[in-house]
Amino acid sequence: MTDPASAPRFRNPRARHNFIGRTCSITGVGAYVPERVLTNADLERMVDTSDEWITTRTGIKERRLAAEGEATSDMAARAALRAMEAAGVGPADIDLIIVATVTPDMLFPSTACLVQEKIGARRAAAFDLEAACSGFIYGLEVGQQFITSRTYDTVLVIGAEKLSAIVDWQDRNTCVLFGDGAGAAVLQNREGSHGLLTVCMGADGAKGSVLCVPAGGSARPPTPQSVDQRLHYIRMDGKETFKNAVQAMHAAAREALQRCELEIAQIRCIIPHQANRRIIDAVGDRLGATEDQVFVNVEKYGNTSAASVAIALDEAVSTGRIRRGDLVLLVVFGGGFTWGAAVIEW
Ligand code: ACO
Repeated sequence: MTDPASAPRFRNPRARHNFIGRTCSITGVGAYVPERVLTNADLERMVDTSDEWITTRTGIKERRLAAEGEATSDMAARAALRAMEAAGVGPADIDLIIVATVTPDMLFPSTACLVQEKIGARRAAAFDLEAACSGFIYGLEVGQQFITSRTYDTVLVIGAEKLSAIVDWQDRNTCVLFGDGAGAAVLQNREGSHGLLTVCMGADGAKGSVLCVPAGGSARPPTPQSVDQRLHYIRMDGKETFKNAVQAMHAAAREALQRCELEIAQIRCIIPHQANRRIIDAVGDRLGATEDQVFVNVEKYGNTSAASVAIALDEAVSTGRIRRGDLVLLVVFGGGFTWGAAVIEW
């Protein structure tokens, strides 16, 4: 593998658009997962499935479930405080809170406002962002715009989900896949670091119904019938999602690398959305990545949607898989469809 430290970098001006002024770095990450573990053996007692089926199709062995009364904002706040500690910032330093989630505590106020109150960031503006499993990368891009434009100095981007609240525990096609948790990043300008080199985002609204929660919004408000028909739970065409995920993640990662004129071998750590081991392996193979470049923790947490890459990034940093100066590639895909990729100089 080429040593990232000695490789030529960032010749492409498209990757450098934000360097003309101010750069944006991730100066701290943090994560929180609830204590309660739901194993494949537990699921065998709930639906007609097996550890063997789940493991071979998805790579997932267990996932975490929020405690009774624990909401998305509670997990988001815990992850945020850990990221803030890592970055060495306090609540009064936060200018903006962005929470990426498909499982807000309620329709409004936003989960970001609830987090603002929980962490005591009284000065901060706050809003939610919804891009399903791609939400954290969308959040990084939105957050960095505020930093590079000098509008704000310190932005908190959080991916947090309580998917157990919208999973149909009678549907074996979906209930084995998802888990709860939160991850957070503090974005700031850091002298001498390029930070976020590029972020690519995309969407295909024509495929929205392939992966969705059909009711509960303004199109189909909740009624006794919608509850009876179980329309408030995740519905997914697994094969269609799988196919699109591999194609879109591969294309987004390629585009991000091209923008920076980087080869895959120069990337120290690739963190794909942790949805399914087979999707991760297929994307890694297509990119020509080696196994030790690709970070995987899906076996422990399942798919935590917007929290997934944030939790993985925190684990990769805390276990030393990513060190200062390394080049990191994040790549995601989710409902919408949405997708994205980011290249970061750590
Ligand atoms: N246990 C046992 N059998 C099951 C289970 C289960 N938990 N779930 C489905 N099956 C059965 C189905 O009923 C079906 O049976 P049938 O053929 O009698 O109708 C059969 O298994 C389907 O098996 P496969 O064709 O082997 O399934 P496939 O290889 O498509 O794997 C899976 C299914 C795991 C859902 C896969 O399609 C997938 O991972 N898709 C992507 C889903 C995903 O990651 N979604 C997350 C949201 S988007 C994102 O984050 C990327």
